[in-house]
Amino acid sequence: MKKRIGILTGGGDCPGLNPAIRGCVYGAEKYGYECVGITDGWKGLVEGTTTPLSREITEYIIMKGGTMLGTSRTNPYKVEGNVEKCLATFKKLDLHALVAMGGDDTLSVATKLYRDHKLNVIGVPKTMDNDLNVTDYTFGFDTSVTKAMEAAQALLDTGASHHRVMVLEVMGRHAGWVALYTGIAAAADYVCIPERVINTEEMLKKIKDAYARKRFALVVTSEASELPAAGEDKSKHAVDQFGHHILKDRGMGEHIASFIEKQTGLETRSAVIGHMQRGGAPTLFDRMLATRVGLKAAELVRDGQWGHMAALVGNQYVGVPLEKATGELKTVNKEWFDLMEVLF
Ligand code: F6P
Repeated sequence: MKKRIGILTGGGDCPGLNPAIRGCVYGAEKYGYECVGITDGWKGLVEGTTTPLSREITEYIIMKGGTMLGTSRTNPYKVEGNVEKCLATFKKLDLHALVAMGGDDTLSVATKLYRDHKLNVIGVPKTMDNDLNVTDYTFGFDTSVTKAMEAAQALLDTGASHHRVMVLEVMGRHAGWVALYTGIAAAADYVCIPERVINTEEMLKKIKDAYARKRFALVVTSEASELPAAGEDKSKHAVDQFGHHILKDRGMGEHIASFIEKQTGLETRSAVIGHMQRGGAPTLFDRMLATRVGLKAAELVRDGQWGHMAALVGNQYVGVPLEKATGELKTVNKEWFDLMEVLF
């Protein structure tokens, strides 16, 4: 009888999950394992819901966005008895190993299951936010930023035609990578990221200067940036099972746009790309990265490297301890702040 590997995807979906599942299945079969999909993230492990996986089933999912396994933001550590249910499902499905694909939240659960119960867990890093430590990139980021960049370019066309200031709000949660890369790639005039409270004086000056020069301006903001003048009551935001504020109703782009309009008198419009940046076919980069970390995960199973995550470090795919990747986010740092001074 072949040993069996369970695969699950948790947290926000992103382009690259399907290629990663495929890579893991291909690698696992090569090493003599069979795979089973656990549906809807940790919820599926709690409830014991599965779907078949094989090389044939996954052959053409490399070009598909989303995740064929479904996902959820379920945290088994939030409900008493759910961790025990996860352990029971692992046993009942006769799993040799579990490959958990996710960001900081999903992988923190994997870290604890390994630490507290010595479960045979391997992690695969994914997040469009690109905020996971120890891996240079996470799949999902390249596709999402490419989509956001295209949206920003589209705003440039309409902004230039109407002589307006355009503000684009992008996702990225508590890390500014998506906003920063989008802003750089679309030649924005100012970028707002959560790592630095917006310097309103500087922002208004840059916008006025840009407008004086070309009669339009583009600002890219993260959904989580801080505008002191917005007078926001944070206690009003709902939180998910991992304690994160749900940022979708925050309307940061809109706050910034009305602030700019009020302070400068320049006609300003805002747009939110939202979940559109998280769907669609993965870029070539994300297909390759996802395939490689999926394959690496299968290799880590073969080598019994429990409690490790497949990571891209430099040009190498390596196993790193899960606990090093989780708990603290990788956010925009001083090196990038200096570049921002030059670019915006
Ligand atoms: O973590 C990925 C992400 O897309 C964040 O950038 C965003 O804040 C969040 O998920 C949105 O979550 P949901 O899809 O649950 O609204």
